[in-house]
Amino acid sequence: MKELIVIIDFGGQYSRLIARRVRECGVYCEIKPHTITAYELEKANPYGIIFSGGPNSIYDISSPKFDLKILELGLPILGICYGAQLIANNFGGEVVKHKVKEYGSTSVELVCESDLFNGLPQKFDCWMSHMDTILSVPKNFKIIASSLNCNVAAMQNTEKRIYALQFHPEVSHTEHGTKIFENFLVDVCKCQKKWQLSSFINEKIKEIKDIVGEKKVISALSGGVDSSVAALLVSKALPEQSVCIFVDHGLLRKGEGDEVERVFKRQFSMNLIRVNAKERFFNKLKGVTNPEKKRGIIGEEFIRVFEEESMKIGGVNFLCQGTIYSDVIESGAEQAAVIKSHHNVGGLPVNINFKGILEPLRGLFKDEVIKVGLELGLPSCLLSRQPFPGPGLAIRVIGEITEERLNILREADEIFRKEISYANLNEGINQYFAVLTGIKSVGIKGDFRTYEETIALRAVTTKDFMTAKFARIPYPVLEKISTRIVNEVDGVNRVVFDITSKPPATIEWE
Ligand code: XMP
Repeated sequence: MKELIVIIDFGGQYSRLIARRVRECGVYCEIKPHTITAYELEKANPYGIIFSGGPNSIYDISSPKFDLKILELGLPILGICYGAQLIANNFGGEVVKHKVKEYGSTSVELVCESDLFNGLPQKFDCWMSHMDTILSVPKNFKIIASSLNCNVAAMQNTEKRIYALQFHPEVSHTEHGTKIFENFLVDVCKCQKKWQLSSFINEKIKEIKDIVGEKKVISALSGGVDSSVAALLVSKALPEQSVCIFVDHGLLRKGEGDEVERVFKRQFSMNLIRVNAKERFFNKLKGVTNPEKKRGIIGEEFIRVFEEESMKIGGVNFLCQGTIYSDVIESGAEQAAVIKSHHNVGGLPVNINFKGILEPLRGLFKDEVIKVGLELGLPSCLLSRQPFPGPGLAIRVIGEITEERLNILREADEIFRKEISYANLNEGINQYFAVLTGIKSVGIKGDFRTYEETIALRAVTTKDFMTAKFARIPYPVLEKISTRIVNEVDGVNRVVFDITSKPPATIEWE
């Protein structure tokens, strides 16, 4: 039986962090919405359940509730903060609304033996963030830890195997937090910590084989991390039945298309079709300067090429995509069926008739995807790639796209990326690239007046790409980049550095 822990999400900001901690302990877990029923849970057959925290008071009318029958399933439960208060309230304990929110680090003291705290010191620091407080424990529950402001910092009912923590073991400010999870998973839920990425790979390979049978799969490969790892996994499972389609629209960075082809075709002997569709993209983009029009044309043409190629291959039943767990959570599609007839992540075709969609990475976080990639042998240069927009360099060449203008940008962009890497700054900057601004200005090279292009350097630090700050690149590094670009790239006589945050600017210029 597969070891599974279900995290019931009550809207807590740390739910994903709980999932991370559980997986770090070697146990597979999934986050489910609080509307999950006891029946659905029973079918999923988990080893234990974790109730997450949440921003509400349990007394708010709109506060998230859960199916009370879950408490009767006899499964071990760990409630955290809001989850702990729900447990206390439902078993008849007293939960009160406090006027002041307790927020921050505080010392907690163990007052009674508990499997949850095996191997922990008598006192340690924990992170509190709550408004409601458990004032008295329900019948048959015992207080197991207290803090200065919180008599019931933790409680348990060992017979029912139900535990509740007022503090947050998942945040790094709580000392021994991972150990608390490990104790719950191993000592209470009896998990054997068997989940590892290598076992994940073997399981997925078997699953892909079972689903696809004798049929054919095509994988859409962009060269980005997620689609590369997903395609490689499918190809490992079914080397003779899978084909990767890599649409080269001629708008990639310098050397990128060749690198993708080399890695997947030569290194992994994958069945890869690189569709050199540059001409048709360029024809469609001729004379187009409006950014939204460029995007629309590229998206549409991408779909057409993809459709044509899959028709040529014929008899294709499955499409593989690199959807990952954050896409699933963010799109609110947690409950979505494994096989869907339409999907549009990353501009993929919506109107081709596939029997099913394969999303082998659907359950993984980004860093886990990278670890799977490493385990499968993908080179780190591919795995450490920064995000690259689907429309490629078309939205970094302001104005009309021509081969000549693209080449200017490619050369400047390569210098920028290399210099950032030489200066060991690449790990600290989340996205950086050059932009051909379309502005010509007067300069002087040697004894001659020039009237040439301006390159802008864009570099940002960001967590989620929704907001961003411009990266503080040291002046000597900027100076070197600028000098190299104006000396080495024909047609450029000026380099500027974009010092705008997002908002109000976006990361890309178009
Ligand atoms: P913006 O420019 O909106 O970019 O601040 C945020 C992130 O999204 C990427 N981006 C795109 N990715 N197709 C994509 O696949 C697009 O049309 C597109 N536009 C922006 C951008 O590179 C950044 O990482």
